[in-house]
Amino acid sequence: MPIPNTSENAAKVARGEPFSFSFHYLSEDVVRYINALFAKILASMDQIFLLDTFITIIREVCINAVKANAKRVYFRTIGIDIDDRDRYPEGIELFKKNVIGHFETMEAGLKSSDYRVSFSIKKDQKGLVVQVLNNSIILPEEMARISMRMEKARYYEDFTEAYEEIYDDTEGAGLGIVLTVLLLKNSGIGVENYRIIRGEKDTKTLLAIPFELRPQEITTTIKKQILAEVEGIPTFPKYITELQQLCANPESSIGEISGKITVDPALSSDVLKLANSAGFISGKRIETMPEAIKNIGLKNLNAILLATSARSILDKRYSRFEQIWAHCNQVAFYARRIAMKYRLTRMVENAFLGGLLHDLGKIIMLSTDLGTTNKIADIVKDRKIRTSTVMEEISVGISHAHIGEMIALKWGFPDYLVESIRCHHTPLNAEEKHRDIVFIIYLANILCGIESRRYQLYYAEDEVLARFALSSDAAFNELHAELKTAHEIRAE
Ligand SMILES: [Fe+2]
Ligand SMILES: [Fe+2]
Repeated sequence: MPIPNTSENAAKVARGEPFSFSFHYLSEDVVRYINALFAKILASMDQIFLLDTFITIIREVCINAVKANAKRVYFRTIGIDIDDRDRYPEGIELFKKNVIGHFETMEAGLKSSDYRVSFSIKKDQKGLVVQVLNNSIILPEEMARISMRMEKARYYEDFTEAYEEIYDDTEGAGLGIVLTVLLLKNSGIGVENYRIIRGEKDTKTLLAIPFELRPQEITTTIKKQILAEVEGIPTFPKYITELQQLCANPESSIGEISGKITVDPALSSDVLKLANSAGFISGKRIETMPEAIKNIGLKNLNAILLATSARSILDKRYSRFEQIWAHCNQVAFYARRIAMKYRLTRMVENAFLGGLLHDLGKIIMLSTDLGTTNKIADIVKDRKIRTSTVMEEISVGISHAHIGEMIALKWGFPDYLVESIRCHHTPLNAEEKHRDIVFIIYLANILCGIESRRYQLYYAEDEVLARFALSSDAAFNELHAELKTAHEIRAE
């Protein structure tokens, strides 16, 4: 698909003109294009915070449309008439076995077929109207099953409740419908604004997104437990706060600061360890506290104090999540490097600290309900959902980014750090003055996620890539290779 200009077309939609395009297959390019288009339309309407919810719903709608077409193409290939009721179950069995989970095998067949999906969007007085049309007629059986699923899904309070029922579904379409319904409810769009219409020659899905949304608050047992946890988390010990004040005071001596740190053996060892870690100066090994302070500087020390205190509070309270901290260390290393590379020198230390602490909400979430958190992670990965935030919000009622933000506020973290934690999966929601640092943390996290195969390049927000001149895949991969090599050398 030739990529039309998103800015121009988003402006068209914002002016009230209709805009449409069509595709055969939901390729990465198409998804990326839809993302960019919506990011711009919503930004111009000052509603960017709705982006991830919209994109997730719209993606589900598009997947369903392409899947319906793929089913027809597949039936044709195996020589079964889709309207032949006797042979339909046999065809569906084969479709499930050979196509579901290997959808990419249908790409070529769809592209050379006459089946296509037309996507159109228009703004009216009440909101945005999205129409997804596929030129295959929905079968009465399919229509009945979808209605039944939707009806059922309306009564689920949250995702965990629906989860068990989903996997017995015959065509594997249940999860998408449940997701869509929960997203519609949770976002405030409302289930009544989503309609599937069976036409003479085609199937139309209409999604009317009102400007004024009435989001439904999801209260789950896990959410209640999480809020109680956040409430119960202790504040920073007094000597840490005093130490931070000492670091901030230019009159303080290194001896004074060092003396205060060495009172706490655990803190001392953490400071030494971090001072020797990947993010800081290379070269000789640092053995003593005054040496460590001199080498890393007071600004860095302040960052280390904050990070180690935060971690030790969480580690004492919850089982150790080594994997998360290891991930955070890597994000911190990447974030620091990115800040240096783009000459954002004033925020090198802040980027490092932001990386170290960006996922602290995840610790609380994992500690409260490991099972659900893992299920969410699986679904996000399997369905290639761009961010875990939306899934967490509809299944638990709160995202790990929001939990992190609450803790950061409780601990009195500086603004830029609160914002980095809050927006590390939703960078376009960040306040303008914190965008540089938030974008750095976001980018570093995406890069690490690509390495652990949780993300793919096309998930990345266009605006962030453009900010760092990474819009071409080559530029992006080059930066990634450079950071990865530097990190591997450091870890040896
Ligand atoms: Fe995260
Ligand atoms: Fe992360």
